[in-house]
Amino acid sequence: MPVIQAREISAASRLENVRYAIRDLACVADEVVKQGHKVLALNVGDPLNFDFQTPPHIIEAVYKAMRDGKNGYAASPGIPEALEAIRSEAERKGITTVQDVFVTAGVSETVDLCLSALVNAGENVLTPSPDYPLYSAVLCKLGIKLNAYDLNEEDAWQPELADIERKFTPRTRGIVLINPNNPTGSLCTRQMLEQVAELARRHNLIVFSDEIYDKLILDGTPHIAFASVAPDVPSVTFGGMSKNYLVPGWRIGWGIISGDAGAVKTYTAGVHRLLRARLCANHPQQYAIKPALEGPQDHLAELQRKLRSRRDLTQKWCESTPGVSCVAPRGAFYAFPRIDIPESDEIFVKELIRQKHVMVVHGSGFGQKPGTQHFRIVFLPDEKTLTKAYGSIGDFIQERYKKL
Ligand SMILES: Cc1ncc(COP(=O)(O)O)c(C=O)c1O
Repeated sequence: MPVIQAREISAASRLENVRYAIRDLACVADEVVKQGHKVLALNVGDPLNFDFQTPPHIIEAVYKAMRDGKNGYAASPGIPEALEAIRSEAERKGITTVQDVFVTAGVSETVDLCLSALVNAGENVLTPSPDYPLYSAVLCKLGIKLNAYDLNEEDAWQPELADIERKFTPRTRGIVLINPNNPTGSLCTRQMLEQVAELARRHNLIVFSDEIYDKLILDGTPHIAFASVAPDVPSVTFGGMSKNYLVPGWRIGWGIISGDAGAVKTYTAGVHRLLRARLCANHPQQYAIKPALEGPQDHLAELQRKLRSRRDLTQKWCESTPGVSCVAPRGAFYAFPRIDIPESDEIFVKELIRQKHVMVVHGSGFGQKPGTQHFRIVFLPDEKTLTKAYGSIGDFIQERYKKL
């Protein structure tokens, strides 16, 4: 047999900009683990890595579904009882113009599907900067040029309307809001939502409002769904089980399409084409949606209490550490402190892993204004673990940048 030299199979060039800093750092952590150290991972927003537990009644619901033979494919949009429960949830959130709901394999799939169903080559979608990096990754995958608008750190990370206006082009089709926000933990004010709605009306945009953390509000104020303040504006509200119901591994999310019925009809049909093409979301797990949304919510009080205490500890550390400042997070479980350092935040986090074995994510992995440096902390661990981690980060800053 002649020996044939295998030629390299190249990956699609549009993937060059697909990055997911949160997990990309794992390579540096692996190096450190190989040297025999334990790394404290404050990079991934998975509550089940820490002292949080899935509510037992929803585990029972999935177990029962499996025992009852719900192990085949489900209907593409989702099982009827889950769709009905999501519609009722939309009603509780004050969304009065629901036109369609569908279940996905996590909000990750909602993002992929909703962006894919919207954009043609040469068009763009306004995404926040900093943003949850999946948005940029999906747009890159689709070959769409990124068009990011700034969140304003001086204004508690609210979207910067003037920047949105500046970035708008005749080929802009939609705008993404992440509320509560990952990575900043900020919440959009009602006034901001109204202003974004006005802008969407004026420019004929669809609004994607990612509200996956809507039950994790830490300052006692109610969460305001974008679609509730803008019933006429075409929008898709993204929700899911991963964070609010402590089951990120189940991969259950959903989309709620609302707005003027005529305006969203064709787009909704496009979404359903994609829903059918990927067959269905995880079937047995969908049986947990109704018991989760309509059953006991006791875990939420406990979850919020722990997060509030850990947020406060985080904030106190930021305020008392030279060279660090932070807009206090109001939702989710992330803080995005600014650091005044003479090198890139990517070098900062990599050296922090190597020297102190604490893993946070660099601000540049989410996007940030030029000349600023940040890092994202996941404040899910208990107070003792966080105190130790902040001690290590403080020492690292002291040792590395003595003049601060
Ligand atoms: C803002 C935001 N949207 C979507 C997701 C993805 O969630 P899911 O687990 O439902 O795919 C995350 C996960 O961290 C997130 O932070």
